[in-house]
Amino acid sequence: MFSLSNPSDWEGYLRSQKEVVEKALDERIPRADRQPKRLHEAIRYSLFAGGKRLRPILCLTTCQTLCGHWEPAIPWACAIECIHTYSLIHDDLPCMDNDDWRRGRPTLHRVFGEAIAILAGDALQALAFEIASSAKGTPRYPVPLLLGELARAAGSRALVGGQVGDLESEGKEVSLTQLRLIHRRKTAALIVVSVRLGAMAADAETWELKQLTRFARFLGVAFQIRDDVLDVTQTQEKLGKTAGKDLQSQKATYPRIVGLAEANRLAALYTHRALEALRPFGERASPWIQLAHHLLERDR
Ligand code: IPE
Ligand code: IPE
Ligand code: MG
Ligand code: MG
Ligand code: MG
Repeated sequence: MFSLSNPSDWEGYLRSQKEVVEKALDERIPRADRQPKRLHEAIRYSLFAGGKRLRPILCLTTCQTLCGHWEPAIPWACAIECIHTYSLIHDDLPCMDNDDWRRGRPTLHRVFGEAIAILAGDALQALAFEIASSAKGTPRYPVPLLLGELARAAGSRALVGGQVGDLESEGKEVSLTQLRLIHRRKTAALIVVSVRLGAMAADAETWELKQLTRFARFLGVAFQIRDDVLDVTQTQEKLGKTAGKDLQSQKATYPRIVGLAEANRLAALYTHRALEALRPFGERASPWIQLAHHLLERDR
């Protein structure tokens, strides 16, 4: 696929995967001139604003590494990005994190108003399942099984539940155990399902799915720790979203609870644990190893 020792190959690979995701999304999302135009414009404003597309790339890369093609994972990759984008739109609302910037642009509610932002999020979540329902299953993994996993990862015991935990812990003393649970739900669950759906679309062996799930759980927590760290260490220009916001809102984050140095150490430790889960894959693990390093070392 690409050479591990050649960073320019890797960069090129990431760019091409991102293009695949952009094109697949563009083909599946209603055009901006479809009625109601304001809603479809809003959906596209947020969806095509330069997100990193890390979840769909994880999904496609997992599928390709296991079976040699990424195509079977396309509907799942698009569905995941729709759910992720909806979660960001709602996360930014005044009643939640009250943010003015996202993906280098004013947030959706600032441009289109709160009602359209809420409704664009609602519609994106429904679109996710409409797109996912076009996927083909495998004998081992029928489509309803995967739809169920996606719904669960997006729901009250995972992403939405984690967002509730995040809001309820604002300004409170939170233990590291509680914080880890919030991060596992609000962020890691969608990262885990990105990898699992990619693996199932490739008709993964049971042991492969098990090891990749372990990999993604650690990766997902490391990802949110890195997000918390970047909020403290980066600028708005770099991040494309307001920096320093977590401290201002007294969010439960790793830097606030254990300090910046320890947060960095834990992100590296969880990434290391994630990589350990890849050992049984031998040389085949190189794309996942690259992605894990990319996520840990990213600066936005
Ligand atoms: C931001 O996710 C929200 C978190 C769960 C930390 P990303 O950093 O992947 O955001 P985009 O998709 O690139 O905008
Ligand atoms: C958001 O976490 C997680 C979800 C959207 C589910 P954050 O609130 O830390 O994300 P950012 O920093 O606003 O992107
Ligand atoms: Mg939030
Ligand atoms: Mg936020
Ligand atoms: Mg954040």
